[in-house]
Amino acid sequence: MKTAVVTGATSGIGLAVCAELAALGFAVVGVGQSEERCASAASGLAAAYPDVPILFFRADLSRQAEVARVGGEIREYLEDRRFGRLEALINNAGCVRGRYTTTEDGYETVFAVNHLAGFMLSGMLMPCLISAKGRILMTSSGSHKGTRPRWSDMMLKRGYNPLFAYKQSKLCNLLFAYGLNERFGKLGISAYGIDPGLVKTDIGFKNAGGIVALVWKLRHRRGVPPELPAKIYARVCLEAEAPKGLYYGMSGEEKYSRQVNKRNADRLWELSERLCGMKLGADEK
Ligand SMILES: NC(=O)c1ccc[n+]([C@@H]2O[C@H](COP(=O)([O-])OP(=O)(O)OC[C@H]3O[C@@H](n4cnc5c(N)ncnc54)[C@H](OP(=O)(O)O)[C@@H]3O)[C@@H](O)[C@H]2O)c1
Repeated sequence: MKTAVVTGATSGIGLAVCAELAALGFAVVGVGQSEERCASAASGLAAAYPDVPILFFRADLSRQAEVARVGGEIREYLEDRRFGRLEALINNAGCVRGRYTTTEDGYETVFAVNHLAGFMLSGMLMPCLISAKGRILMTSSGSHKGTRPRWSDMMLKRGYNPLFAYKQSKLCNLLFAYGLNERFGKLGISAYGIDPGLVKTDIGFKNAGGIVALVWKLRHRRGVPPELPAKIYARVCLEAEAPKGLYYGMSGEEKYSRQVNKRNADRLWELSERLCGMKLGADEK
């Protein structure tokens, strides 16, 4: 039985991906930030898929100490119970903020949760992913287009714009996937950015603040149910041969921004290693 780890698994797209993968026979490991929501998601999935192992871990992924802790716990579980193999890691947890906020590590929150947490968790689970020649999927977005990384101020301390912060983080998701393929492709790892389209979830209502909540209130009504984009993840995880493209959406492989290139991917990789205090190279195992 294959295993998938899904972050942001307690609601929206992440929860729907857990259900889709469980229905296809994957053992599912979910990560969520609230004990209560983890318990509720786990019991709902276990009731719907009684023959599939479902396990949830709690962690606030904005805190690097928590990412390190949960990464260690998941790795231990995979080594003890899943033969040290991980077929799919879905870095999906994400948030929006209406104003500049920082994490306890001092990083801008959207950048920390949407990108750095996935970078760190991927590094921690890499030995299990390599053992299974696994796939790493980042929930990116069409909103990664029309922007470029603000290298002189990645934490956006000067003039915070919530939309720019979100767009930059979704561009980072694709740059990270690009960098993973460059470094770990030869070891059988395949990484992707997924564009779920506009999805009717509550992301814009969670600690986001006035203007963001207002815009999301109008916008999210036109979104599709999360069960639809969940099928993209299943397709990318299940194809017998790992799909060759980098960016997938409802209609298959999609075009991505020209900002997704080696120069930017390398620069982001080096910055992420520094900010996470970890080396993530192909000789890790
Ligand atoms: N909705 C869209 O139209 C859309 C479009 C493109 C991309 N996306 C991306 O899709 C992903 C999932 O978002 P969604 O729309 O499904 O919204 P969602 O239902 O709010 O899902 C976000 C998930 O991330 C979790 N999360 C947020 N901050 C966290 C933290 N500090 N630590 C641990 N978990 C945390 C949330 O947990 P809680 O429930 O406990 O807050 C939730 O499970 C995000 O990366 C988002 O950027 C969404």
